[in-house]
Amino acid sequence: MSKGKVLLVLYKGNEHAQQEQKLLGCLENELGIREFIESQGYELVCTDDKDPEPSSTVDKELQDAEIVITTPFFPAYITRERINKAPKLKMCITAGVGSDHVDLDAANERKIAVTEVTGSNVVSVAEHVLMTMLVLVRNFVPAHEQVIKGEWDIAGAAKDEYDLEDKVIATVGAGRIGYRVLERLIAFNPKKLLYYDYQDLPKEAIDKLNQASKLFNGKDNIVERVENLEDMVGQADLVTINCPLHEKSKGLFNKDLISKMKDGAWLVNTARGAICVAEDVAAAVKSGKLRGYGGDVWYPQPAPKDHPWRQMQNKYGAGNAMTPHVSGTSLDAQARYADGVKSILNSYFSGKHDYLPKDVIVIDGDYATKSYGQRK
Ligand code: NAI
Repeated sequence: MSKGKVLLVLYKGNEHAQQEQKLLGCLENELGIREFIESQGYELVCTDDKDPEPSSTVDKELQDAEIVITTPFFPAYITRERINKAPKLKMCITAGVGSDHVDLDAANERKIAVTEVTGSNVVSVAEHVLMTMLVLVRNFVPAHEQVIKGEWDIAGAAKDEYDLEDKVIATVGAGRIGYRVLERLIAFNPKKLLYYDYQDLPKEAIDKLNQASKLFNGKDNIVERVENLEDMVGQADLVTINCPLHEKSKGLFNKDLISKMKDGAWLVNTARGAICVAEDVAAAVKSGKLRGYGGDVWYPQPAPKDHPWRQMQNKYGAGNAMTPHVSGTSLDAQARYADGVKSILNSYFSGKHDYLPKDVIVIDGDYATKSYGQRK
């Protein structure tokens, strides 16, 4: 007789799981936590069958699960309806960062805790953001496609290729990822780095960026906080989104806000797909309002075959730097979030509930983090 059920929802690794043991985040490798969970007297059920609601294995198994673990890369959406049908559910753990796939208000009403492995993949994402910026600004994709097709058309690629240097770059959200993006951008000698966030960056963090800019680029006061989002996007050559998805950020980049951006700006979003209105972004890329859009996050996930971002193109047939949701799931990151999930479970099983404060999103019926929207 087990003490309770842990439900783990992961994508299938297939032959890749056999090729690479470090691919912990797939169904076959189960985050490397089966033995640990069973040694604690709990049952582990692992599945990739999460959709559609309400007829998937997740729906069936959730009915008597105490803990559900899922990743943002292949999320089981823990909706209010699913929570209502899961009377024993006590905790949702995100193997990664970003817990918007759980209805956090519904979790609060039921006093279900939501935890994640905060910080586990923030460097991985910041690197992906820089890569995506370069892919777009340097017009990499059409140039690379030429190589494969046996072509050599310098003009065809160069006509839409720029330098990152001397551009105004703005981040929506300057938390762990947003700040790391700003840090890494100093190396590219930007004209200005702007940020919009309702939480202040600590003075030391701003000083560090300004000093690095002075040292490497001879430019002082490179970082500026902008109080108004429309003002900020109107000044930026490139905007990167690094805030969580919550009720105030859902659909934030719609036709209206995009119309306030500079003509021909680039937009990079590795935060969450639903922060942007997919059709509005695709239309802006098509019209040239945006020179390009890139990132790795979609809604829903997996993205349907006809999602507008799959085929989105600018007038030159480029401007699309999308990947599946992979930025936060490098093998290095997988090791970190697998470890972090084990620590959270350890804390739960021991009855101490001594979680790292940074890992707790909601607990005891309230938000423990300030990142999911301003609250009184
Ligand atoms: P964080 O909590 O350290 O920082 C988020 C920042 O965004 C906070 O400073 C918060 O005040 C700010 N913010 C919240 N709402 C805002 C709004 N409407 N406008 C401006 N700023 C706002 O979180 P972290 O670690 O930087 O991650 C941010 C998000 O990135 C996650 O919530 C997740 O959605 C996404 N993410 C994506 C990954 C991927 O693989 N693509 C992996 C990890 C995170």
